[in-house]
Amino acid sequence: SASYETILTETDGAVTIITLNRPKALNALSSVVLEELIKAFAAYQADDSQLCAIITGSGDKAFAAGADIKEMSDKAAADFYLDDFFSRWTSEIVKTTRKPWIAAVNGFALGGGCELAMMADFIIASDNAKFGQPEIKLGVAPGMGGSQRLTRAVGKSKAMEMCLTGRMMGAEEAERSNLVAKVVPHDELMTEAKKTAALIASMPPMAAIANKEMVNSAYEMTLEQGIVQERRLFQILAASEDKKEGMAAFVEKREGKWTGR
Ligand code: CAA
Repeated sequence: SASYETILTETDGAVTIITLNRPKALNALSSVVLEELIKAFAAYQADDSQLCAIITGSGDKAFAAGADIKEMSDKAAADFYLDDFFSRWTSEIVKTTRKPWIAAVNGFALGGGCELAMMADFIIASDNAKFGQPEIKLGVAPGMGGSQRLTRAVGKSKAMEMCLTGRMMGAEEAERSNLVAKVVPHDELMTEAKKTAALIASMPPMAAIANKEMVNSAYEMTLEQGIVQERRLFQILAASEDKKEGMAAFVEKREGKWTGR
């Protein structure tokens, strides 16, 4: 796999694992990290053999403790506006990655780290995970979608309280509050994430993309528009080879063999 300075990538069967790898800086999300993640996600998206991805952090302490504060400290407003660093996380990672990806949160997910985890299709957290949007303490606020995605995930009251106090939310509360899909013991995090990713990767690939697209529509559309979108995607899938194969396999009591068409 490609060599990067701040991230590691590997594949395990049809699963791509992307690891944020600046453990001494608690995997802070610098501009180099962003450039490398854009490349790694584009490579995942382009590789037809890869059907699910996992993003995690190296070390036992952090998924990512935020955007890189040392890099941001000298920046002027014009730099933030002209670079558009924050917008590129959505435009060049979230929007271009149509295939599924999971965040395996192994420790602190703060600020941009929490926001990156929330960009994933869902989060699996280790029992030592800690989520937060502490930007207020730096005189700023979330900048990569946190105020919107956290509010949609946990509701206004909890999101508002977290943004205004900057406090962290532990894994158990995060599961109870629907921020994460599942919490597992720290030592089992990657085993569980890989198992889940392999299960997703065993599904008909086009159906996986369509399922992702329709669930995401619930974020973006009215109920009526979202239901129309769902129905159209269903109708497209109904014309696929994998639909024919999937239903035949069920009737014949065997495993389906997918072409991805
Ligand atoms: N950026 C740059 N470096 C960071 C960092 C960050 N976000 N978070 C931690 N580090 C660095 C520390 O500076 C420290 O480096 P040195 O050894 O060179 O001093 C190293 O990582 C270890 O960190 P600590 O010594 O602070 O570790 P700790 O265990 O005492 O505390 C922590 C852990 C509570 C997570 C603390 O590091 C912390 O509060 N970090 C900042 C969290 C934060 O404010 N994140 C939001 C950033 S703003 C943002 O993300 C904007 C946005 O929305 C897009």
